[in-house]
Amino acid sequence: MIEIQGWKWPEYPLFLAPMAGITDWAFRLLCQEQGCDAATTEMISAQGFLTARKHNNTYQLLARRAPFEKPLLVQLFGCDPNWMGEAARVLSSCGRYAGIDINMGCPARKVTGSGSGSRLMLDEKLAGRVIAACVRGSLLPVSVKMRLGWDEEHENAPAIARIAEQEGAAFLTVHGRTTKQQYAGKADYEKIAAVRRAVRIPVIANGDIADGAGAREALRVTGCAGLAIGRAALGDPWVFARVRAGLSGKSCDMPDLHERLATARRHATYMRAGHNERTALLEMRKFFAWYIRGVYGAAEIRAKITTAGSFAEVEKLLTELEAKNGA
Ligand SMILES: Cc1cc2nc3c(=O)[nH]c(=O)nc-3n(C[C@H](O)[C@H](O)[C@H](O)COP(=O)(O)O)c2cc1C
Repeated sequence: MIEIQGWKWPEYPLFLAPMAGITDWAFRLLCQEQGCDAATTEMISAQGFLTARKHNNTYQLLARRAPFEKPLLVQLFGCDPNWMGEAARVLSSCGRYAGIDINMGCPARKVTGSGSGSRLMLDEKLAGRVIAACVRGSLLPVSVKMRLGWDEEHENAPAIARIAEQEGAAFLTVHGRTTKQQYAGKADYEKIAAVRRAVRIPVIANGDIADGAGAREALRVTGCAGLAIGRAALGDPWVFARVRAGLSGKSCDMPDLHERLATARRHATYMRAGHNERTALLEMRKFFAWYIRGVYGAAEIRAKITTAGSFAEVEKLLTELEAKNGA
């Protein structure tokens, strides 16, 4: 058991890593059912959130939390300490979240271009002021999610980690790549270990964890307190069950096609509850493609799903796929 400012976790908590356009309440619920212990919202612009009209649909959706969700962090991005501190204050006092997470890892140009996301790691003073403002404003624990640094010449994650600890951050999540690497190569667990050694607050390791063996290796090399899983959960929320089983030396099979499609259909039901029919269909297309990955006959069905004009059409395609596979 590890405890973070009153928030008690099982040993080696498994986080769903934040993913913009993916980790909404519907997807989070499915991952939590499979053993994910805590999740993070998609990133939310602090300034955008504070300046949007009160009932702005985009921010309402980003900040939503379903009633049965496990602990949820809300992730903010921005580089202005005032906006970040104020957004942390407002969101931490709405009773929905377990913590505020600061995005210092996003490599997307539209985020780094304004000095936010992983770009903040290049300005340690400003990074410190942003963290301090969030800690001051927030009623909840504040965490920081970062990369190893901007590029090979600027791998300053241990320095940022120490600053975050000094400014009162409760824990850190470290993705073992630089911004320049984007998603290329392999996450460097030795370098995450160096960040872990630099601070006393818990560090969560992130990058390329996709099964029990990978999770054990990540924990062995990094010595971290927990793990965050992102891309491996796409179309595969069961990865959390497999990793949890793997950590206790057990095995856990991938569900059969019938169960996978039952989950895909439930995902679609959730999505339709939160969006109009057209948006729900557009959002679900990518998820359907992920759910059927690796299944016999999936390529043809996937191509048809990307142009399907209704959920009824998608349903016919899924039934066809089941028939092909005798499910
Ligand atoms: C589509 C996509 C969207 C992402 N959006 C965010 C985000 O909003 N905030 C963030 O901190 N990281 C974001 N990330 C990074 C992930 O949280 C994670 O750090 C990264 O994917 C490495 O972990 P993985 O190998 O388990 O996927 C995103 C990654 C992907 C693939």
